[in-house]
Amino acid sequence: MKRLERKVALITGGGGGIGSAAGEVFCREGARVALIDMSAEVLDEAVARIRAAVPGADVHAFVADLGREEEADRVVQQIVGALGGVDILVNNVGIRRYDAVEDAAWDKWDDILRVNVLSYVSMVRAALPALRKGGRGSIVNVASTGAVFGRKGMAAYDSSKAALLALTRTIAHEEAEHGIRANAICPGYTRTVFHLNRLGEAAVDGIVPPCVMKRWADPKEMAFPLLWLASDEASYITGANLMVDGGYTGP
Ligand SMILES: NC(=O)c1ccc[n+]([C@@H]2O[C@H](COP(=O)([O-])OP(=O)(O)OC[C@H]3O[C@@H](n4cnc5c(N)ncnc54)[C@H](O)[C@@H]3O)[C@@H](O)[C@H]2O)c1
Repeated sequence: MKRLERKVALITGGGGGIGSAAGEVFCREGARVALIDMSAEVLDEAVARIRAAVPGADVHAFVADLGREEEADRVVQQIVGALGGVDILVNNVGIRRYDAVEDAAWDKWDDILRVNVLSYVSMVRAALPALRKGGRGSIVNVASTGAVFGRKGMAAYDSSKAALLALTRTIAHEEAEHGIRANAICPGYTRTVFHLNRLGEAAVDGIVPPCVMKRWADPKEMAFPLLWLASDEASYITGANLMVDGGYTGP
């Protein structure tokens, strides 16, 4: 028996680095996977990559701009119609801004709060009826070490990620009676296309992350903790936050 046999898993930001790595690992473990992203192009690439890596992968692409309130309901209804339910929701979509507080303009904060926080709320709300029906629903929110560790220049992003930890705890309290667990992970430096496009490969490889392990994570090293928290193996874990950061914030 595979670890996610026949479970329907929704992954937002599913065309990106961590989202598509999770899609691959979930497919390998028998899940029916819905990748949701605003970019049809990255979704096509992710689906092709997953099908090449996992023969028979049950993976599907859904385009939605989750920065728009109405999109979560629309895309979740579309997925429930196509795949028959929702057992797992991985809220992973995220955008970054590199502004100091003194440069904070509401429109910049507005963008980031919409995508990084409000889309998580809307996706949970939209998926709750289907998650409750299954009786063993699992939600995993992707935050960041920035949620718990201070630094300069990323106030909007880090605030959005800190909000997700509070949101996760609240969902855990509210949904336990419906059999739904809610947890978060805080990734550290992860070598995704986002950073490679932003800085270039040589610059990324030139950075030594300030964590105990002194290296970047491969996106799969986020996918496996997501798999575990999403699966029934984590059946007594809810409201938790797992630091997946190579010892950045720990020892
Ligand atoms: N990579 C890291 O070092 C790192 C560290 C800590 C936390 N994280 C978090 O992990 C998550 C994934 O990061 P990643 O590095 O894989 O990012 P990524 O940029 O590779 O992937 C994000 C995906 O989200 C999609 N997206 C952006 N805005 C959207 C919207 N409005 N609607 C729908 N889709 C949208 C993008 O098209 C992209 O495919 C993010 O939440 C990020 O904040 C990443």
